[in-house]
Amino acid sequence: MMGRAVAGEWLPLNGDGIHDPRSRALRILQQPQEALQRLTPDNAGNQVRWVQALEKGEIKPREKLFPGTKVEKLDLDIILDVKGGMPAVRFPHRPHTEWLDCSNCHDALFARTTGASKISMYKILQGEQCGVCHGAVAFPLTECARCHSIARPGTKKLELPAGIDPRIHQMTGQGAK
Ligand code: HEC
Ligand code: HEC
Ligand code: HEC
Repeated sequence: MMGRAVAGEWLPLNGDGIHDPRSRALRILQQPQEALQRLTPDNAGNQVRWVQALEKGEIKPREKLFPGTKVEKLDLDIILDVKGGMPAVRFPHRPHTEWLDCSNCHDALFARTTGASKISMYKILQGEQCGVCHGAVAFPLTECARCHSIARPGTKKLELPAGIDPRIHQMTGQGAK
């Protein structure tokens, strides 16, 4: 589903390493380039700013399969204060519950009590917690400032976890956008 993008272009289905290039069924599938190029662009991940594409009505995904399913949305920001030099993290429930059900996160991934889940960047980078989705089906973990979006006045130095590319210095402290 998430065709990988190279230099602003989406790979064709017969060269994306996911689909069988010999399959005749490829002809009836829409090419990612055709489907995605009209949506609000991003410079990371699969190059679509999905939250904005939804807000602007560029896409209208079906909310549920079964008429009886209850769709729950929540407009509640959680601020996770990071000890150390990084800007604090704003976790916005609203854009998440536009796409997801509460049960996608509660209570297996996260507790319903702010501060109870012991969230850490190490676990996230291991593909746990926020990293279950970010870097897999949502924007990648290299976009530090999209999560660490609350600047901390007076902060001078960042303490980077081992293995983090120092280029991220440029991306921090820019605010949520
Ligand atoms: C993408 C993951 C995700 C989804 C989906 C999600 N939440 Fe949360 N929720 C969180 C995180 C992360 C926290 C903070 C946990 C922590 O700090 O330990 C949280 C915290 C909460 C809290 C605690 C608030 C407080 O003041 O302490 C409540 C209540 C809550 N969520 C309800 C919901 C409901 C209701 C839904 C569905 C409408 C929902 N959540 C969907 C991730 C999610
Ligand atoms: C998907 C959201 C997300 C992204 C992207 C992200 N972080 Fe984090 N980060 C978090 C959360 C959540 C915490 C834990 C906050 C807390 O302490 O409750 C955290 C914590 C941290 C901490 C504090 C130490 C620790 O291990 O908890 C550092 C340092 C950090 N992040 C650095 C980075 C850097 C550098 C990047 C970019 C390469 C980055 N983060 C990208 C969500 C994110
Ligand atoms: C169950 C999957 C899932 C988990 C877990 C999850 N996210 Fe997300 N997140 C998404 C999806 C899907 C989107 C919308 C698509 C995108 O922006 O790539 C999103 C969007 C966001 C956005 C909004 C970006 C914008 O453009 O406005 C932020 C900020 C964010 N996530 C932070 C976090 C943080 C911090 C955590 C962990 C505390 C977390 N997410 C955990 C799936 C998840």
